Amino acid sequence: MGSGKEKLPRVIAVTSGKGGVGKTNLVGNMAVALTRAGNRVVIIDADVGLANIDIIFNLRPDYNIKHVISAEKTLNQVMVTSDHGVKILPGGSGFANFTQLNEGEKLTLLSEFETLADQADIILVDTGAGISSNVLYFNSACDECLVIATKEPTSITDAYAMMKVMSQEYGTRYFKLVVNMVETPEEAKRVYASLSGALDKFLGNVVLEYTGFIPFDRQLQRSVQKRSLIMDNAPDSPAAKAIKNISSKLETAPERPHSSGNLTFFMNRVFQAVK
Ligand SMILES: Nc1ncnc2c1ncn2[C@@H]1O[C@H](COP(=O)(O)OP(=O)(O)O)[C@@H](O)[C@H]1O
Ligand SMILES: [Mg+2]
Repeated sequence: MGSGKEKLPRVIAVTSGKGGVGKTNLVGNMAVALTRAGNRVVIIDADVGLANIDIIFNLRPDYNIKHVISAEKTLNQVMVTSDHGVKILPGGSGFANFTQLNEGEKLTLLSEFETLADQADIILVDTGAGISSNVLYFNSACDECLVIATKEPTSITDAYAMMKVMSQEYGTRYFKLVVNMVETPEEAKRVYASLSGALDKFLGNVVLEYTGFIPFDRQLQRSVQKRSLIMDNAPDSPAAKAIKNISSKLETAPERPHSSGNLTFFMNRVFQAVK
């Protein structure tokens, strides 16, 4: 909670096996819920495929991370702030070629990211979907990895594949699950059971924690169409309430022992993860 400078930010990746499952909406609405609960929240839009967090905040950023990499702008000049006070770092296509950054560009980014450390309590990274190296190295560099799946079989198998590769390539042993677009809590529990069952059976040493579900809610779709957030339009709707629950559960969850919460360290891990 709140302001203290003594505590370094928690960096949480929001990811999925398959696209279109609700990552961006979860990140945006959760950021608002966490801000209202007294946290300073920064969103990093690292989804190279479909970077669109700015759309649901109805913001039109002029710059993105590319301008930071090229040292034309500082991180603070590139970040945009929503009316709620959520800071957003637009990615554009700037996160696409992290593997090709030269040493100077890496150093620029490292020192810029260091300035984020005393501006944020929680950093949410929309890392995109799938098992491309881009998605995986951002996931592996974060303190926590929140996976979203729906009840669609393809979403479940792709989520499993993603966690499998993360555990085998990067040694990630711990994930959290949010199940989106379900009709009942039981449906969500079934998705969780099939994923954790498969992880237990085939990988053994990977832990999947159930964080919650978000019901299918047309008000969320209407909010997206209006370039807005359900947390603003319909705060008492089932989906908004569910996202608030997930946010407070995440906020109060004990931090994992491996958490460094250090941004320079985070960026170093990102660069190290590049093979
Ligand atoms: N809980 C929900 N209820 C109804 N529709 C949803 C819900 N979550 C997401 N959607 C729909 O799915 C679309 C994609 O969501 P988005 O957050 O952009 O996914 P992603 O970032 O994973 O690609 C939204 O525009 C919305 O229409
Ligand atoms: Mg998205």
